[in-house]
Amino acid sequence: MSILKKHSLIEKNATLLLIGSLVVVTIGGLVEIAPLFYLQNTIEKVEGMRPYSPLELAGRDIYVREGCYLCHSQMIRPFRDEVERYGHYSLAAESMYDHSFQWGSKRTGPDLARVGGRYSNEWHVQHLIEPRDVVPESVMPSYAFLKDTPLNMNGITANLKANIAVGVPYTPEMVDNALADMKAQADPEADTEALLARYPKAKTGDFDGNPRMISEMDALIAYLQMLGTLVDFSTYDQSPQSR
Ligand code: HEC
Repeated sequence: MSILKKHSLIEKNATLLLIGSLVVVTIGGLVEIAPLFYLQNTIEKVEGMRPYSPLELAGRDIYVREGCYLCHSQMIRPFRDEVERYGHYSLAAESMYDHSFQWGSKRTGPDLARVGGRYSNEWHVQHLIEPRDVVPESVMPSYAFLKDTPLNMNGITANLKANIAVGVPYTPEMVDNALADMKAQADPEADTEALLARYPKAKTGDFDGNPRMISEMDALIAYLQMLGTLVDFSTYDQSPQSR
């Protein structure tokens, strides 16, 4: 039987064709996907990336809880208009400690991947309390209640441990100091040397203008102010010409 005859057998039998297709697709899929699980380097390592500090992590959870991702992306695409507006396009490594990632798919407001350091803490406070005070045409909701809501710090140690379980490299020292680090980062009087050794470049001090209480707004602004600030792009050049 010639090869064409064998093929006509498959073509005339729907079940056989289906099984045949399944086998071929399975082999193709395995060849493409399986190696990714064994490669050390699916994500290129980038200098400066570190896990979130406990306060930033808590702020990130508030960002997720409030659904900020429904209006804001955190992924700058490698197009000229985006790079000129937001800064260097996002690298995979910049969201490697995000569980879950906040890339988003909707931009009612601007991308926030590099919003850290772009505005003062006072600006963020005013903007979160009443966005229209600073941007009159804004459609962003008010989040004033975050300033009056004390930050729940009970679960922070468990939160770090949960992140370890999904691969974030928090050390035992970071876990032991989670609560102390969280308080120190939002306290303008605190000794932050150990905190900054564990979490380089973390912004410290009172974020929401009320040093007497650590509020949810403190945590959220600590998170916003670090976004996109860890990798030093003045020393990082990945343009195709320079490779
Ligand atoms: C209904 C959509 C919507 C939601 C939800 C939303 N925003 Fe916005 N956001 C906007 C819009 C529109 C702007 C642009 C106008 C402005 O600055 O207010 C904006 C601007 C911002 C900016 C300034 C960005 C820049 O580069 O100028 C920040 C920071 C921000 N939002 C943070 C947040 C945070 C944090 C949350 C969640 C607590 C949130 N937003 C929820 C719509 C939204």
